[in-house]
Amino acid sequence: KTCCLIGAPVDEGAVQRGCVMGPDAYRTAGLAEQLRDLGHLVEDRGNLSAAPRPASHPNAALKNLPEIAGWVPVLEQAAYEAAACDMPIFLGGNHALSAGTVPGVARRSAERGQPQFVLWLDAHPDLHTLASTRSGNLHGTPLRYLIGDPGFEDVFPPITAPVPEAHVCFMGLRSVDPAEQARLHGSGMAVHDMRALDERGVSAPLLAFLDRVKQAGGALHVSLDVDFLDPAIAPAVGTTVPGGATFREAHLIMELLHESGLVTSLDLVELNPFLDDRGRTALLMVDLCASLLGRKVLDRQTRSAA
Ligand code: ARG
Ligand code: MN
Ligand code: MN
Ligand code: MN
Repeated sequence: KTCCLIGAPVDEGAVQRGCVMGPDAYRTAGLAEQLRDLGHLVEDRGNLSAAPRPASHPNAALKNLPEIAGWVPVLEQAAYEAAACDMPIFLGGNHALSAGTVPGVARRSAERGQPQFVLWLDAHPDLHTLASTRSGNLHGTPLRYLIGDPGFEDVFPPITAPVPEAHVCFMGLRSVDPAEQARLHGSGMAVHDMRALDERGVSAPLLAFLDRVKQAGGALHVSLDVDFLDPAIAPAVGTTVPGGATFREAHLIMELLHESGLVTSLDLVELNPFLDDRGRTALLMVDLCASLLGRKVLDRQTRSAA
């Protein structure tokens, strides 16, 4: 496979700065080398940049709205173009970037006649509208925008190919605001919070979703937020929530995704290298990415035992 790395150093979706360094931390942690070791071709397309666009909204809590309003159309177009690659990997950057990457890859899937599905691996559902966010941090809004809900007019571009809510699956939720609960309630979205994963494990819920993607002949975008992982193994994120996915759960998800052959694009988001501990979170994210692209834990054990 050809993997295309697209740096999206979006720093402005939250108050805590540092995600701007995310793409370079993945490069430093050896992402391209790991993928090449697996036999893939890797094209590093460098980092995107975007100028702010004038934007305003009655919610006075919103932070950096012009900056994110500038990023979204740039990311959408870049993702549409990158979707011509076998496996575009968007290196974040704050999770607000998914308001561009997902609509962009979905536009490409629509042209191919393929329904778009999204797996959101995150402690948070990021389902706020511009009006409902209390924190004003725009990384709390991309999922709501990409399913085509109203409330983003005149700030982000109209969406060409909204992802049907029934094509969204969440895993790992453990911090959901009231406005987000209200949107989730009775929706067609598949919701597997940490409680569900504690009780059922990760594989049954994931395989059920993958089966739906397969039956539909769909394209699958995976959006992996660092805070999906437990903060004990992944400290480099501004929005840590205790009780996240373990190392084994996260790798199992990645291995099942690889075996499905269904994943067509990937976001790695919210890594804040400024908060990391000798690169361990960046290295873990690179390892997870390698599992998603075919590395087997058994191969590593075989190698280290030899
Ligand atoms: N729901 C909270 C908020 O809106 C947290 C969002 C965290 N999102 C993220 N991508 N880390 O502020
Ligand atoms: Mn998120
Ligand atoms: Mn999150
Ligand atoms: Mn469930």
